[in-house]
Amino acid sequence: MQNDFCSSNTKINLMRAFAGECQSRQRYYQAALIAQQQKYIGLERMFRFTAEQEERHAKQFFEALENCAGEAINICADYPADVFKDMGSLLEASAHEEQHEADVVYKAFEDEARKEGFMDAATLFKLVAEIERSHMRRFEYYSGLWNSDMLLRSDSTDECWICLNCGHIHRGSEPPKNCPVCGAEQGYFIRAAEAAFTPSVII
Ligand SMILES: [Fe+2]
Ligand SMILES: [Fe+2]
Repeated sequence: MQNDFCSSNTKINLMRAFAGECQSRQRYYQAALIAQQQKYIGLERMFRFTAEQEERHAKQFFEALENCAGEAINICADYPADVFKDMGSLLEASAHEEQHEADVVYKAFEDEARKEGFMDAATLFKLVAEIERSHMRRFEYYSGLWNSDMLLRSDSTDECWICLNCGHIHRGSEPPKNCPVCGAEQGYFIRAAEAAFTPSVII
């Protein structure tokens, strides 16, 4: 066990994590823009929601480097060039990256931090890895809907859909082509169960 943070591997790993989170955030913002261009507004919001969380992870890792303020930290790491234009590939690549980040990268960083005696850093890597696993499941869920062509379709004729633009709720096996209230296109609809602040008691 060693406690000299400035010469530790944990310091370098925290900077790698900061760099990785900044890139995840940017990749998801770019995926959100592609979803927006293709009029899948539900997917756009989902990518933005996740990007904002990655931004917070970056902040936490950056602040954990406070003891090295002013120092330039050299890092070497692999980062994915997930340059795709189709939603299916973007969702699949995102799920894969989250799994790798959680189960390979942050797991190794947590173990190293524990070995070096930096328990706060070890806990941070562990807790963020748990979030990345939930991101993986989120992307897998939407990837599954996308690949089975069920993003805007349901087996139930009583599925509840909500327009992200005006809040109109529609029941049926698919949302309307245009919202009857605000005219928003079909891609503005998501399942009400996927919407924020929409518990089942109000729909
Ligand atoms: Fe993250
Ligand atoms: Fe993530």
